[in-house]
Amino acid sequence: MAATTYGPQTLASLRAAVVGRGREAELVVAALMASRHLLLEGPPGTGKSTILRAVADATGHGFAFVEGNAELTPARLAGHFDPAQVLESGYSADVWVDGPLARALREGALLYLEEINRIPEETLNLLVTVMSEGELTIPRLGRIEAHPDFRMVAAMNPFDAVGTARISGAIYDRVCRVSMDYQSEADEQQIAAKHVPTAGTDFAANVVTLVRATRQHPEIRVGSSVRGAVDLLLLAEDLATLRGDVPDARNVALDAALTALSGRVRLHDSSTTTPEAVITGLFDDIFGPPDTPEGSSEGKVKSRR
Ligand SMILES: Nc1ncnc2c1ncn2[C@@H]1O[C@H](COP(=O)(O)OP(=O)(O)OP(=O)(O)O)[C@@H](O)[C@H]1O
Ligand SMILES: [Mg+2]
Repeated sequence: MAATTYGPQTLASLRAAVVGRGREAELVVAALMASRHLLLEGPPGTGKSTILRAVADATGHGFAFVEGNAELTPARLAGHFDPAQVLESGYSADVWVDGPLARALREGALLYLEEINRIPEETLNLLVTVMSEGELTIPRLGRIEAHPDFRMVAAMNPFDAVGTARISGAIYDRVCRVSMDYQSEADEQQIAAKHVPTAGTDFAANVVTLVRATRQHPEIRVGSSVRGAVDLLLLAEDLATLRGDVPDARNVALDAALTALSGRVRLHDSSTTTPEAVITGLFDDIFGPPDTPEGSSEGKVKSRR
C-alpha cells in the first residue's frame, strides 16, 4: 500500500523541480518508499526546503507543514481540546481539534517539519513516540494510529547556533539522515539562472565564484549560500537602473555585493576585521582591484573569462 504513494514517479517530480541533487533525491525517495522517516541536515540555502516542498507537492496524500520554533507546544503539534466546548460538554472526541500531527497520522499525509532543532524537547518527545510506536496516545481521547502512508520529513541546519539545539539521539535513532552540503558550482550557476533572467553572463559566473569564495575565507566562519548570489544579481540590476549604469560597473557590483553578502557571512569570534573588508577583498581578487587600467577606463569589473 505504502509503496504506491512514493516511487519512481516521485523521483521524476523531484528531478523536475530541483536543480542537480540526483543522489540526494534518490535517497529521499528510497527512504520514503521504505516507510522510513527522514531528516535532511545541512547549512542554509542548500536546497533542503526545495527538496521537501517538491516531495510534498508530489505526494498524493497532501502534507501538513510545521515550522519548528520555541512556541511549538505539544498541543500545537498534536492537537487540543477546545476549551470552551470542554466547559460545556466535557472532554470527548467531539471537542478535540486535530493539530498537524494528528491530521497527518489519520490521513497518511506527509508531516513536513522545518527547523526541527528549534522545537522544544517536550514536543520532540511526542515525535519520538510516534516514530517508534506508529501511534499517538492522547489522554482522555485515546490512540490515533498512523495510517500506513504517514511519513515525517524534517529539515535542520546544524550551523545556526542561535535558538537551536542539537536534537537528541532518540530522534536521530528513529530517522534516516541525508546530509546536504553546498551545491556544485555548475548547479549554483543554474539555480541563479532560475531566479535571475539575465544570469548566464560572465558577470553572473563571477558572482557565483565570489559567493563560493566566502565559504573558504579564513576569517569567515559561515559563508553565504546561493541565496546571496541570487540577491546580489537582482540587486545589481536594479541598482544599475537607478544609477544609469550597468550591473557589472564596479561601483554597482561592489555595492550590490556588500549589501547582499555582508549580513550573510559570519566572521570567527576571534576575527578583528569586518564583513565589508573581507567581501571587498574577495571582490577585488575575483573582479580585479580598483584603478587598474581596465577597471578605471571603462569602470567595468574585470572578467576572468
Ligand atoms: N537544488 C536546487 N534546485 C533549485 N533551487 C535551489 C536548489 N538549491 C537551492 N535552491 C534555491 O536556493 C534557495 C535556498 O534553497 P532552500 O530554501 O531549499 O534551502 P534550505 O536548505 O532549506 O535553507 P535553510 O536551511 O536556510 O532553510 C531557494 O530560493 C531555492 O529555490
Ligand atoms: Mg529551509
